Amino acid sequence: SQPIRIGIAGLGTVGAGTVKLLREHAELLALRCGRPLQVVAASARDRKKDRGVDLAGIRLESDPLALATAPDIDVVVEVIGGSDGVARQVIETAIAGGKHVVTANKALLALHGSTIAAQAEAKGVILGFEAAVAGGIPIIKALREGLVGNRVKRLYGILNGTCNYILTTMRESGRDFADVLADAQKLGYAEADPSFDVDGIDAAHKLALLTAVAYGRPVDFAGVYVEGIRKVGALDIRFAEELDCRIKLLGLARETEHGIEQRVHPCLVPKTAPIASVDGVFNAVAVEGDFVGQTMFEGRGAGAGPTASAVVADLVAVARGHGLPAFVVPAARLASSPGSPIERHR
Ligand code: NAP
Ligand code: HSE
Repeated sequence: SQPIRIGIAGLGTVGAGTVKLLREHAELLALRCGRPLQVVAASARDRKKDRGVDLAGIRLESDPLALATAPDIDVVVEVIGGSDGVARQVIETAIAGGKHVVTANKALLALHGSTIAAQAEAKGVILGFEAAVAGGIPIIKALREGLVGNRVKRLYGILNGTCNYILTTMRESGRDFADVLADAQKLGYAEADPSFDVDGIDAAHKLALLTAVAYGRPVDFAGVYVEGIRKVGALDIRFAEELDCRIKLLGLARETEHGIEQRVHPCLVPKTAPIASVDGVFNAVAVEGDFVGQTMFEGRGAGAGPTASAVVADLVAVARGHGLPAFVVPAARLASSPGSPIERHR
């Protein structure tokens, strides 16, 4: 049967990880999809750089827009990053040309997700963004599919692997904030601009996406209250231990009488709470639904392997023809769907 032809825009941590997974599991995935997943082309600024993966047979472009317009590509994977500019151009051009899009770009979707989802639905193409939230944890699919029958009372979680890695390592080894952040960068966990991680913005991007899917509301990043971990020092971590608590950067969304509250900030969590022992680069998301009760999802929140796992899940959904609508409620109806409005904090 016909392969699904993939173009990967960006060959950094996530792009190279995705090529590796698709190569290593080519047979398994062809069996699971009923058709091969074939990487036809990829793009990076530096076409000569060694990416640590076999790129044989993959056409290399320096302009990612060439993938968005290529007639031999069915689905574009956008793993460049950035909340506007080239990433947005690639996605919108691909959709306009009738291509499916898979992206890990939470910064872009947190600002323009409802608009882009509407464009995708108007064209009848799939917009997959499992990799944009909580790395390898399939939380978007859990909310869109497994938990879709519930009204979500609240959800909360550890949504940034870099911050959790920093807080864990500072606690366990007493090392410096800056020193541990440098490690997280080397390991491929941090954003291109790591202030997005440590200032809580990346977690807020992810929370805005989770809220949109869980409550069927337009994505509202501006409605998230955000505080990062820069001010958390060694002394705070020691005091938390004395109180039998851990400090975790949590994102939380819940219905209140005023609307849906969204916030991201460091929290004191009792050591007995399951989320307190989620350490290192791991993320966790707890979802409380009215019929299902409490659920909890845990896994690696950043890095090449976990993120590639999520990208490939979306590629399989594309190959199987699943994945619409992107935000659980058709994008054209998000603004008018029943339910509480999102509270505005700033
Ligand atoms: P990365 O390692 O910095 O890779 C970015 C890739 O995009 C590189 O190949 C780079 O080319 C290319 N690129 C950057 N700017 C470009 C431009 N202006 N024009 C053309 N190509 C450009 O980033 P990453 O960590 O893979 O992250 C990619 C996306 O995935 C981001 O949206 C990020 O937020 C998201 N994400 C990352 C992780 C993670 O753990 N790293 C997890 C989940 C989601 P060169 O290599 O030639 O410079
Ligand atoms: N920088 C992000 C994090 C990557 O550390 O969680 C995964 O989205």
